[in-house]
Amino acid sequence: MTRDDCLELDRKDPLAAQRAAFALPEDVVYLDGNSLGALPRATLPRLQRVVEYEWGQRLIRAWNEAAWIELPRRVGAKIARLIGASPHEVICADSTSVNLFKVLAAALKLQTARPQVSMRERRVILSERDNFPTDLYVVQGLTDWLGARYELRLVGFNEVTAAIDESVAVVLLTHINFRTGAKHSLSSITYRAQQAGALAIWDLADSAGVVPVDLNAAHVDFAVGCGYKYLNGGPGAPAFLYVADRHQKAFANERFAQPLAGWLGHRAPFDFAADYEPAAGIDRFAVGTPPILALAALECGVDTVLAAGIDALRAKSVQLTELFIRLVEERCDGLGLQLLSPRDAAYRGSQVCYAHPHAWSVMQALIARGVIGDFRAPDILRFGFAPLYVRFADVWDAVEALREVLATGAWDRPEFHPRRLVT
Ligand SMILES: Cc1ncc(COP(=O)(O)O)c(C=O)c1O
Repeated sequence: MTRDDCLELDRKDPLAAQRAAFALPEDVVYLDGNSLGALPRATLPRLQRVVEYEWGQRLIRAWNEAAWIELPRRVGAKIARLIGASPHEVICADSTSVNLFKVLAAALKLQTARPQVSMRERRVILSERDNFPTDLYVVQGLTDWLGARYELRLVGFNEVTAAIDESVAVVLLTHINFRTGAKHSLSSITYRAQQAGALAIWDLADSAGVVPVDLNAAHVDFAVGCGYKYLNGGPGAPAFLYVADRHQKAFANERFAQPLAGWLGHRAPFDFAADYEPAAGIDRFAVGTPPILALAALECGVDTVLAAGIDALRAKSVQLTELFIRLVEERCDGLGLQLLSPRDAAYRGSQVCYAHPHAWSVMQALIARGVIGDFRAPDILRFGFAPLYVRFADVWDAVEALREVLATGAWDRPEFHPRRLVT
């Protein structure tokens, strides 16, 4: 394998033209689209119009004229196409953490309402020890708030299925592990959870926009995910949430499906009634005024993914990660890297992670060379491959930079040691 072979792969790449949809610096190999997606070229003109014309000129009238009020549902319906959901099952709102709070509370409420379930027994929320911390914190916060009724039970990545029993109320997992890129079997875990009478909640933070997910086919109960990663929605982009149609119907006669009852989840917000009456369907999972600038940017990002097609993206993502692992094996052998990601692409998302005792400094040295990945404590180098804009030649260049940084000890220069606030 040579750099020319990689250039040839780029020439043959059916997605190669998609990169032009992004405003990427020329001197950067960007392998951090799993933390913050790149800037779509369409975003700036869109925001310029929303700010200058819609907000600047049309002012409050834009809520109706520019259909601002419909943005959470409109962008949600676009995301639905990427995750195997119906348009009315997804809405954009808040952050992933807040959405998780809402759907977890909703799932627990459904469980208490089920006649066959005794809450005395079914009190476990099952998750993975190595889940993204916010997911675990949200469970801890909500269960503390509810008193001693629930218990968070944490198991290892491969122990989930065996740990599902009749005591479990909710199985809450992240599809792609943030430290290793390992991928759970969403459909088989969901099936097993439901067989045992539990509900399944999936965090799709590192899946949405890069790994095909079919929530309806897998009969998933609830899901959440981020807008700022592979959906290219921009820093702090709104998140999304999914509630299966059957659960929306189950809540039809309930006043509260989830505890964050805000005016935009009300049936008629502009009646300004004193009493909460829920909107029908997914709208009741909205809370407050939607962030229009951020949603406009998110829509541009989601459109970049829809334009490429999720299956084509997955195919290229697998090729990119395969190539990276293979080149690291060939060119960085004996340089202290330990592969943490599954070797088989069927079991990983779109990131490849290595442990290295000096991972922080190694990543800083790479960034200084224009190869941007990130570091996760305590010793993990993470490389994310966003197939919309990462080229095969980028993979080659990244591995060459990694080899040089490790082989020469360049990472050990004093400027690469101090830790920054955001890693
Ligand atoms: C799996 C997972 N869940 C949740 C989050 C955080 O989401 P938010 O900041 O939108 O609450 C992240 C952030 O990286 C994540 O990786």
